[in-house]
Amino acid sequence: MDGMDKVDEVDGMNGAEEIRILAIESSCDETAAAVVKDGREVLSNVIYSQIALHTEFGGVVPEIASRKHIEKINQVVEQALAEAETALKDITAVAVTYGPGLVGALLVGVSAAKAISFATGIPLVGVHHIEGHISANFIENKDLEPPFLCLVVSGGHSHLVVVKDYGEYEIIGRTRDDAAGEAFDKVARAIGLGYPGGPKIDRVSKEGNPDAIPFPRAKVAKSVYDFSFSGLKSAVLNYLNSCKMKGETVSAADVAASFQKAVVDVLVDHSMEAVKEYGYDKFAIAGGVASNSALRGALEQACKENGIAFYHPSPIYCTDNAAMIGVAGYYEYKKGIRHGYDLNAVPNLKLGERL
Ligand code: KG4
Ligand code: ZN
Repeated sequence: MDGMDKVDEVDGMNGAEEIRILAIESSCDETAAAVVKDGREVLSNVIYSQIALHTEFGGVVPEIASRKHIEKINQVVEQALAEAETALKDITAVAVTYGPGLVGALLVGVSAAKAISFATGIPLVGVHHIEGHISANFIENKDLEPPFLCLVVSGGHSHLVVVKDYGEYEIIGRTRDDAAGEAFDKVARAIGLGYPGGPKIDRVSKEGNPDAIPFPRAKVAKSVYDFSFSGLKSAVLNYLNSCKMKGETVSAADVAASFQKAVVDVLVDHSMEAVKEYGYDKFAIAGGVASNSALRGALEQACKENGIAFYHPSPIYCTDNAAMIGVAGYYEYKKGIRHGYDLNAVPNLKLGERL
């Protein structure tokens, strides 16, 4: 089969038959595979993190990421099947992230998934990485169903999304410049915390005063739900420079805590405005930054005050993993989505777009 196809009758499903998805994720610096049963039960979730390899360069080096994915992919897939006590013959479909992400990194997972599908005849389902992040919420919240509002905050994305149905999205807000995670990583580097910045700022902030430095809370004119973090990043850099010029010592903990508070305030404000305007009573978060403890705490509080149910994945399902791809892949599979062996990596795939 070539291209993307939509089958009417969902093969292998007669209502009672269970669906096991083998999922693969390699869009950035995690080589991951998982087996997910019936969309919400994670039988295995294997993640090989390359973070240590990239730390000395202060960020992800695409070429190194691709090479490491190639080295690890088979091992990670085998381990995911073994831990799930599942043989390939019991797998219903192979789901794989085909975008967005680093092209060389994505290609490794896509090639592995195509090879498995070609060798076994198991259907192939391409999955959008952000759809995976959003779907991570279904793993531990068995009662959660669309429609709901979701804040997606990762290393590459900051989106406010209306999840209209499974696999159906409307982006109502987005960042105009840096993604939230990117801002965390850049500020962490500037205050000498190193890569990856998010978890380090999260930790160091606990010892700092979030009201020590009044960093700006950016509003985007005429676009109430859009974000902008580059001004905040510049404000932190200016603050550090002016301290240096005046010979003043800088408290990394105070800078981290004040920066984090500025990001959290904006994310919470925009989210609650959208919740009120759109009238949803369910609000979820997704993506690496969704594991930030201050953000989780502030959103929990804000949702409580507004009488909204707050959903969040455990931190392990917030950062990149394949279980979330298995969940999204299950719903795509149920919709009848199938991909051919010409499935390609699409580095800037749009949410909701199917190629
Ligand atoms: O979703 P993710 O694992 O990968 C992408 O799809 O981008 O997100 C990675 C981003 C990085 O920028 C990282 O610094 C940030 O998520 N991050 C955090 C935390 N943990 C990861 N940011 C703030 N607080 C955290 N605890
Ligand atoms: Zn991600």
